[in-house]
Amino acid sequence: MVDSQFDDLAMLYERFSEQPFRRELEFPSVLEAVGEAAGLRVLDLGCGSGVYSRKLARGGAEVTGLDVAGGMIDYAVRREREEPLGVGYVPGALPPDLYEIFDVVLGVYVLPYVTTYEELVDLCRSAVQALRPGGRFVTLPIHPGFHRDPAYYAPYGFRLHAYEPEDGAAVVLNLWAGRYEATITARYWTGQTLERALAEAGYTRVDWLPHVVSEHGAREYGTGYWQPYLTVPHAALLDCRKQEVNP
Ligand SMILES: C[S@@+](CC[C@H](N)C(=O)[O-])C[C@H]1O[C@@H](n2cnc3c(N)ncnc32)[C@H](O)[C@@H]1O
Repeated sequence: MVDSQFDDLAMLYERFSEQPFRRELEFPSVLEAVGEAAGLRVLDLGCGSGVYSRKLARGGAEVTGLDVAGGMIDYAVRREREEPLGVGYVPGALPPDLYEIFDVVLGVYVLPYVTTYEELVDLCRSAVQALRPGGRFVTLPIHPGFHRDPAYYAPYGFRLHAYEPEDGAAVVLNLWAGRYEATITARYWTGQTLERALAEAGYTRVDWLPHVVSEHGAREYGTGYWQPYLTVPHAALLDCRKQEVNP
């Protein structure tokens, strides 16, 4: 286990999960990309506080959550004790007994936290290692075309501050939810670099999916509230397929 900027952020991510942005846009978009959960074996890579692990397990998936931040795993394990859903949580790196068994690896906001191109390929490759042939890696990096005005995403509960739009450049994310607030450093990767890293890691196809808003969210907040985000999202939603047969 390594010291991580995320060790103390479980409560912030939990509170942020109750915000309209996550509840009405991000969750429906990601869950639609994953597809019918019942019967799926899912690895939640960079599971954080376990918010997606719990959602997918409630939907009938068999879920393993993996994270390098001990503070996040501790929180997720506590939640599992309070509400047993059968999610197994693993700290640190992917153990060999979890190779090639998952239908889907979900990596929500995990690619932005590698700092070099080599680490980017390695992380994409560890998802390949976890997947069965033909399995899918559904992941959300910072969108290469994200809006450069730091205030653009403020209505959704965060600000993004970028320096240079070049590979590996820092993007500072300021996030708030209720009394919790944090500043996190993420990394920017161009679309070309993301595609190159994914191909090098072993994915044969990458689809860039659109985000969707729940019916409830559209009714409650109006389409005008969502349009800026849908037009220029801060995160890309990628569906990456591992080849069907091992080479
Ligand atoms: C922004 S949080 C997102 C957490 C969760 N996926 C969510 O959507 O709420 C990113 C998480 O990825 C984890 N992480 C970063 N690099 C990782 C790696 N190489 N392997 C596993 N987890 C990693 C961090 O510790 C952190 O908990």
